This record gives sequence, structure tokens and C-alpha cells, in this order.
Amino acid sequence: MMTLKFVVLSDLHVMPEGELSVTLDTGARLEQAVEAVIARYDQVDFCVLAGDLADLGQPEAYRRLQAIIARLPIPVHITLGNHDDRAAFLEIFGNGFVAETGKIDKVIDIKGYRIILLDSSEAGRVDGVLTEAQISWLHARLAEAMHRPVIVILHHNANALHIESDNIRILEPDAFIDALKTHPDIRQVIAGHVHLTSTATWRGLNFTTLSGNHYSCSVDQPHIPMRRLTGPGQLAFVIADHDSTTVLFDDYIDGNEEIFLED
Ligand SMILES: [Fe+2]
Repeated sequence: MMTLKFVVLSDLHVMPEGELSVTLDTGARLEQAVEAVIARYDQVDFCVLAGDLADLGQPEAYRRLQAIIARLPIPVHITLGNHDDRAAFLEIFGNGFVAETGKIDKVIDIKGYRIILLDSSEAGRVDGVLTEAQISWLHARLAEAMHRPVIVILHHNANALHIESDNIRILEPDAFIDALKTHPDIRQVIAGHVHLTSTATWRGLNFTTLSGNHYSCSVDQPHIPMRRLTGPGQLAFVIADHDSTTVLFDDYIDGNEEIFLED
């Protein structure tokens, strides 16, 4: 089996040119991410954007995103997060991104692996939702790939991280987990959303989150209000072979200064 390599970028939170998000120029940060991918990951098979692409779902931000990622020399696969606006995204990127579920889901079959992207965004909600249509689609896509290793990527974490933002993860994950448990070789479930690096096992599955491109969240007990830090800007580098899957984290922007907001 050939070695599969790909990178995951998440929580881009791009704003229109000249506008900041939580004091940060997220578009300029994304340009640094693209520079890092070009400099260090030109041999990878593809790149995934794991949602929260545009901070406020603005068409102008999607247009800026499209211009920035056009420089990537590898295929880019996309799904959405709670900050995204599906209609605005499709207006800029085109309806080819819509799966039969009506959402921005996708299967990538490559080098004997199956990668499944799931769109956990739901209009009007910040927590994650996988619809009944998506769950049956997932069952079918897994059933087709019983003899291939599978890696699942979606915006929201399904597992609790025991932090303040646990109330906006996928709050009803049972059908999702039950679907994954029908497959014998789910290598990883990778998410963004929490702006924090984590790994976990839950119900026999491996879960990973990456910090992404925006501010990162401090690790605190749930009763302590979250602090926002300026960095890192972080991508995940995934390497899979016949019997292992490794996730490395590359901080293309360093920095851990706290951001103070006036209220
Ligand atoms: Fe985010």
C-alpha cells in the first residue's frame, strides 16, 4: 500500500481585504499557511480546508480565500463550519461542491484509502449537526469501503474536550459514532472548530483537533472563561501507510500572547 500524505488547514476565518477578525489579519495568516504548504509540503497528495473558511460568511471573504488558495500546487478539498454561509460559499465556489445530501460532503479515494469530508454546519446554529441524510450517506460510503482504511474530516469535534466550548460541539453524536463503528479501520476523525490541539480516544476511535489559522484557545478548566491567544497558526500533516496513521502539527505562525478585548 502506498503512503498517503495530506495537510489539513482549518478555521481560516478569512475577512475581506483590510478587515481584521479578533484583532488578527486572518487573510495574511492564511497566506503564511499557503507559503508553508508550498515550501514544505509540495509532495503531499492534497490539502483539506476543514471549515470556518470565511469569518462572517461574506462573499467578499470567499473571493479573497479563492484568490489565496489558488497558489496551492495540490488539489484542495473543502467542507464548511459554523461561521460559513453555504449559499455565499456556493455563489463563489460553484454548485459542484454540493453532495447528494445537500451539504458540502465529499469522498476522496486515493492510494487505497477513502477520505470522507462531512459538512457539520447548519444554518442558524453554532453547534454541529449531521443530518439523517448525511448519516445514511455516511453508512453507504463506509459500506463501499470496508476493505480500505478511512479517515474522516469535519469541522466540529464530536468528542468532549472538557473545556468551556464543549456546549457547541456535535451535541448528538450517537448516530455518527454508530455509523463509524460499522467500519473496521477508521484511522482518524479530524476536526477543527475548537482552535486547540488535542488527541483523544472515545468508543475505540481516534479523534484529533488542530488549532487552525485563527486565534487559539487557552487550555483551561471549563469554569474559567476562555482566553484567546494570538497563535499558533497551525496545520496538521497526516501520513498514512498500511498499518499506521500519524498526525504531525506544524505551527506556521508561532506566538502565544493573550488578546484582550474591550467590552
Ligand atoms: Fe473557528
